[in-house]
Amino acid sequence: MSVSVSSLEPSTTTDVLLRVEGVSAGYGHVSVVHEVSFAIAPKQLVTIVGANGAGKSTLLRTISGINRATTGRIRLEDVEIQRLSSARIATLGIAQVPENRRVFPKHSVLDNLRLGGYVGRKDKDGSAARLEDVVERFPVLRERTKQSAGTLSGGEQQMLAIGMALMADPKVLLLDEPSLGLAPLIVDQVFEHIRALSEQGRAILLVEQLAQKALALADVGYVLQLGRFVAQGPGAELAKDRALLRAYLG
Ligand SMILES: Nc1ncnc2c1ncn2[C@@H]1O[C@H](COP(=O)(O)OP(=O)(O)OP(=O)(O)O)[C@@H](O)[C@H]1O
Ligand SMILES: [Mg+2]
Repeated sequence: MSVSVSSLEPSTTTDVLLRVEGVSAGYGHVSVVHEVSFAIAPKQLVTIVGANGAGKSTLLRTISGINRATTGRIRLEDVEIQRLSSARIATLGIAQVPENRRVFPKHSVLDNLRLGGYVGRKDKDGSAARLEDVVERFPVLRERTKQSAGTLSGGEQQMLAIGMALMADPKVLLLDEPSLGLAPLIVDQVFEHIRALSEQGRAILLVEQLAQKALALADVGYVLQLGRFVAQGPGAELAKDRALLRAYLG
C-alpha cells in the first residue's frame, strides 16, 4: 500500500535539509546499502525501519561520515558531505545518537553533556543555554549531573545520549535504535521525548526495528530490507499496515 516516493519527498531544493541520493555503502567488497535515496525537509521526522542486519546503522553511519559512501551523494542544505570527515559533518550540523547509546561511563553526566557540545557546532555562547534546555527536557539528568554516567539506568543513559547530541544543536538528529534493550514503558518515554523534539521543529532521522511505534511518530516512513527500500509512505499509514510489517519485520 505504499505511496510513490515522489509525492512524499520535499518538492523543491529549498524544502530539503538533508538529501541522500543513490547512496551505497558496505564493508570491504561487501555492499550492504544499495543506492538508497530519500530526503528530509526542515522539521520533518523520517523513520526507517528494518530487520536485524538490514543496513540501518550502516546507512546512518554513512550519513554522519563514519562509513564512506561508495556511490551517490549526500547533501546537507547546499553542502555535499559524503567525502567530508565525521568531525566536519558534526560541525556542519548532523549529530548521531549511536546504537547502544554509547556514553562515557566513568565520566559524570555533566561532563558527558559538555563533551556533546564540544564535538558539535562551535558556539560557546549558546552552550549554557543548551545545557539548560537539555536538563529541563530530561529532569532526571539534572538530578544526576555529578553522578557517573555508567551508574544510570538504560533509559537514563538513552536520554543522556540524546542530550549529548542536542548539546551540538544539530540541524538533523540521527537516532539509531533508541529502543534497544529498554523495557516497553521506558521505550514509550523515550519515544515521547522524540515526539516532543520533532514537534518543536527538530529534523530527525530515526532508524528502528520497533517498527510500529517508530513509524507512528513519523511524517514519512521507509522499510529497508537487505539494504534497499521496499516500501515507503506516510508514517501513520505504514504503522497500520500489519501485513507489510509482518512481511519485512517478522
Ligand atoms: N563492521 C562491520 N564489518 C563487516 N560487516 C558489517 C559490519 N557492520 C555491519 N556489518 C554487516 O552489514 C550488514 C548490515 O548491518 P547493520 O548493522 O547496518 O544493520 P542494522 O539494520 O543496523 O541491524 P541491527 O538492527 O541489528 O542493528 C549486516 O550483514 C552486518 O553483518
Ligand atoms: Mg543497527
